[in-house]
Amino acid sequence: MEGKKVSVSKTIMTEMIMPNDTNPLGNLMGGNLLRWMDIVGGICAGKHCEANTVTASVDHVSFGKPILVGDVITLEAQVTRAFNTSLEVYVEVFAADIKGKNNRMSNHAYFTFVALNDDTLKPQAVPPLIPLTREEQSLYDGAIRRRQLRLILGGRMKPEEATEIRSLFVDT
Ligand SMILES: CC(C)(COP(=O)(O)OP(=O)(O)OC[C@H]1O[C@@H](n2cnc3c(N)ncnc32)[C@H](O)[C@@H]1OP(=O)(O)O)[C@@H](O)C(=O)NCCC(=O)NCCS
Repeated sequence: MEGKKVSVSKTIMTEMIMPNDTNPLGNLMGGNLLRWMDIVGGICAGKHCEANTVTASVDHVSFGKPILVGDVITLEAQVTRAFNTSLEVYVEVFAADIKGKNNRMSNHAYFTFVALNDDTLKPQAVPPLIPLTREEQSLYDGAIRRRQLRLILGGRMKPEEATEIRSLFVDT
């Protein structure tokens, strides 16, 4: 299968925080942010795979500073690495007010999506990723360690099988 560059599927989405998106304090609800992160990541994954994808996992997400009603958020998603039938997508969220002030990197997370065959709805092979820049290469290199960690935490890999991070779990 032919490899694809990161730029082919990079996806950017913008939302304004409305009262309906917030908690009683006027801050964006964490679950609403996760939903948008999932959507932008899913669009990015679908573009890379040219297939329907499902979310298999979401790595750690922190909510350090509140996003306020009236703020504008920009969500950016890029594929960091494709494996067999799954791929890792990095999603970053930037927030600012409508005047572009108080601009800040707000949240980030690694999502894993799995491409499904249209007919069988079973996982299908995904195109490899071609990293070009130093940053893309760094994300690509780290993805194998993040994959092994999430598979261990998800109970899908034994620590002793994790070639890259085995020493974190098992005495050598
Ligand atoms: C994701 C899903 C398709 C995997 O199905 P499966 O029968 O476990 O398939 P496989 O064992 O062949 O795994 C397929 C891929 O998913 C990956 N995967 C499965 N569970 C994972 C997890 N928790 N975290 C990361 N990757 C995971 C596997 O590593 C594998 O990747 P690879 O082919 O690149 O090596 C299945 O669990 C599913 O349909 N889940 C529900 C998805 C969904 O509805 N998401 C929306 C949230 S409500």
